[in-house]
Amino acid sequence: MIKINEDYLKLQSSYLFSDIAKRVKAFADSNPGREIIRLGIGDVTRALPGACIDALHKAVDEMSIDSTFRGYGPEQGYEFLRGAIAENDFQAFGVDINPDEVFVSDGAKCDTGNILEILSPDLKIAVPDPVYPVYVDTNVMAGRTGRWNNGRYEGLIYLEATEANGYVPAIPDEPVDLIYLCFPNNPTGATATREQLSTVRCRLCGIYP
Ligand SMILES: Cc1ncc(COP(=O)(O)O)c(C=O)c1O
Repeated sequence: MIKINEDYLKLQSSYLFSDIAKRVKAFADSNPGREIIRLGIGDVTRALPGACIDALHKAVDEMSIDSTFRGYGPEQGYEFLRGAIAENDFQAFGVDINPDEVFVSDGAKCDTGNILEILSPDLKIAVPDPVYPVYVDTNVMAGRTGRWNNGRYEGLIYLEATEANGYVPAIPDEPVDLIYLCFPNNPTGATATREQLSTVRCRLCGIYP
């Protein structure tokens, strides 16, 4: 018999940003003409530069001719793209990254959920609070939390990011297996200094205090 993953049923609400979008739409519909300053989901505000548009047009044209048409690409991404990313986004800034270390995916959101597949289901997870909601929800769906209880998921360690700590939470004072670092943080925008990051220790490294 096909059964649903019961962990999905723990999810409390729809994805935060679609919820915000619904509320904004409802407000806009009932308040026509009111200017809305959107502080919800981040989005770019400028059109793509000409070089990107030219490359996109060229790529579409390639797909229309048998001799240049590409079917499925390599699963890690085209070599020419991985090479260009390694060279221009990393090596140009003195970072020693080779093309075979680059993986072209469909975005960090999907990766955030997908990468959990390789981790044990019984990890103890710590997340900053607030944080990009996908970090929490993907672990809920993977069964790494308990029930929703009084505004939080049981079993998840919430690291308070408040005005008092400059929105950079302290490391947990109990052993955890995985700590999400979200800097610059969504939604606060806070960033951690090198010194703050160097204090992050994990039990896996065997240097947990
Ligand atoms: C902290 C954080 N991680 C991941 C993502 C998702 O990134 P992508 O657009 O590459 O899926 C976002 C998007 O806002 C984010 O704020």
